[in-house]
Amino acid sequence: MTTNVPRHVAIIMDGNGRWAKQRGLPRIEGHRAGAESVRAIVRACGELGIKYLTLYAFSVENWNRPKPEVSALMRLLEFYLRQEIPELNKNNVRLAAIGRLHELPLRAQKQLQKSIEALSKNTGLTLVLALSYGGRAELVDAMREIGREIKGGRLDISGIDEASISRHLYTRDIPDPDLLVRTSGEMRVSNFLLWQISYAEMYVTDTLWPDFRKPQLEQAIADYSKRHRRFGRVGTAEEK
Ligand code: FPP
Repeated sequence: MTTNVPRHVAIIMDGNGRWAKQRGLPRIEGHRAGAESVRAIVRACGELGIKYLTLYAFSVENWNRPKPEVSALMRLLEFYLRQEIPELNKNNVRLAAIGRLHELPLRAQKQLQKSIEALSKNTGLTLVLALSYGGRAELVDAMREIGREIKGGRLDISGIDEASISRHLYTRDIPDPDLLVRTSGEMRVSNFLLWQISYAEMYVTDTLWPDFRKPQLEQAIADYSKRHRRFGRVGTAEEK
């Protein structure tokens, strides 16, 4: 299809609630349909040769949603993590998670660890789930760790630079996203990967997340592959 496939795609999956509302269904039905899109997009990313896919599955702000919705989302997550292991394994997918994972219900934490372990030998796509994740919370956690290292004499203030901050983020083993996708039309980054998206290309589509499947992903990648990434530099003559 395209030659310029991003190495890392990060997605703000938005619009589950609106999708359900349009159909007169409860919000959780939108999340269920959203989980089907997760399945389809994970498979598609593997097929397209993308190496990292980060999905914003649950933000620190999402804890403020009505309790039944939070519980339903946690159950859905647990179900996905358990149910999908054979399919993910078959597709050579490795699993990772970022966020304040200790804030998740114990059962979800345990299932997450189990699934990560079961898929740890795989070498294809790395699926990164952002759970109880907030970009500012991540920076706070990194600063606290850096502070502890300085206090303990393991780090000098002059050792704080962009590379050392990156090494203290939840994403320390993951390259920065090349492409940030947001579904359902909102022009916001919503506290997602604030440090890591500095040079990411953005793609916003009106499509609601439950309707975002392989053809819509291919559209986003086709759009990305037309862009000239300059990382703050001046473009070459042929790029202009
Ligand atoms: C945003 O839609 C979506 C979420 C807050 C949760 C994302 C969860 C899933 C896609 C399903 C489960 C995830 C996995 C990994 C299996 P919204 O509810 O904010 O939609 P709205 O803005 O239209 O109300």
